[in-house]
Amino acid sequence: MLLSLLSLAAFASTSIAVKPIHSHNDYTRAVPLWTALNLSIMSVEADVWWQSSQLFVAHTSGEIDKTKTLNSLYLANILGIINGTISSPTPISVANPLQLLIDFKSDGPTTYQPVHDALQALRAGGHLTTYSNGKLTQGAVTVVGTGNTPLASVIAANRATSSSIRTSAICTAPSPVWGSSGARRSRPSRALTGAVCRAPRKCKKLVLNAHDFGIRTRFWDTPSSVSTWNTFWAAGSDWVNADDLLAVSNAWGVFDSTVGPALKALEAEG
Ligand SMILES: *[C@@H]1O[C@H](CO)[C@@H](O)[C@H](O)[C@H]1NC(C)=O
Ligand SMILES: *[C@@H]1O[C@H](CO)[C@@H](O)[C@H](O)[C@H]1NC(C)=O
Repeated sequence: MLLSLLSLAAFASTSIAVKPIHSHNDYTRAVPLWTALNLSIMSVEADVWWQSSQLFVAHTSGEIDKTKTLNSLYLANILGIINGTISSPTPISVANPLQLLIDFKSDGPTTYQPVHDALQALRAGGHLTTYSNGKLTQGAVTVVGTGNTPLASVIAANRATSSSIRTSAICTAPSPVWGSSGARRSRPSRALTGAVCRAPRKCKKLVLNAHDFGIRTRFWDTPSSVSTWNTFWAAGSDWVNADDLLAVSNAWGVFDSTVGPALKALEAEG
C-alpha cells in the first residue's frame, strides 16, 4: 500500500466544516468537480496529459477526449466560482479552500510549464496558495503536483518567486497495513464494534509520524469499505481517498457524529 505525503508547512483553518475526503480521479465522476462541490468535498484530482499543445484530463493517453481539458473541466469553473460569475453549492475561498491535485501523466519537465501557464488567471487574481521563503500563504486554491511533477522545477520556482505548485512525496508504507496478517482487533473496538478496523495502531503511527513533519496524509489503493474509511479518520488521516463520493460522504457524516466523539471519550478515559 502506498501513502501519499502532501507536504504542507501549515494547516489552514477553515470556516465551514471540511470533510476529510479527497475525490480520487475526480474527472471520472458523473459531473467532474461539481459532484464533489455538491457534497462539500474540497479536494479533487485531475490526471493531465500534455498533447497537441493542450492539457487533456484523462486516465490514459488512449482515453483522451478533446473536449475535456484542465481548463474546461476545472480551472475555468474554479475561477468563475471564486469570482462570483458561476454559482456553486459550496463556495471556494481562502476561508474554504479547494485543493486541486494535478497528477502529471505525461513527461514531467515537458508538462510543467504548460501547467504553470494554465494557472495564470488564478495566479493573477491572487487566488493560489503560495510558498515563499518558508512561508505558506493560503489562497482559495492550493495546487498540488503529483505523478510526474518534476520536483526540481517546483523547488526552482519556489526559489525564484512565490511558487504556486506544490509537490507530494510518495513513500511506501514501512510494512503492510492491510492484509490478513495485519488484521488485529483494536482495543476501542470493544465499544465500537467493527467501526474501527484493521491495524489501527500502525495506521495511527504513520499519520502521527507524518504530522510531526508537517506532512498531511492520504492512503490509497486500500479497500473501499466503511470500516477502512473509519480507520483512517480514527487515525487522524487528513483525507480518505474516495471513489464513491456519496458513500464516503455519508460514512463521514456517521463517523463525525458518533464514532469520532466516542473515540475521543475513550482516549480521554485513557
Ligand atoms: C447537485 O445538487 C443539486 C441539488 O441537490 C442537484 O440538482 C444536482 O443534480 C447535483 N449535481 C451534481 C453534479 O451532483
Ligand atoms: C471570472 O471567471 C470567468 C469564468 O472562468 C472568466 O471568464 C472571467 O474572465 C473571470 N473574471 C475575472 C475578473 O477574473
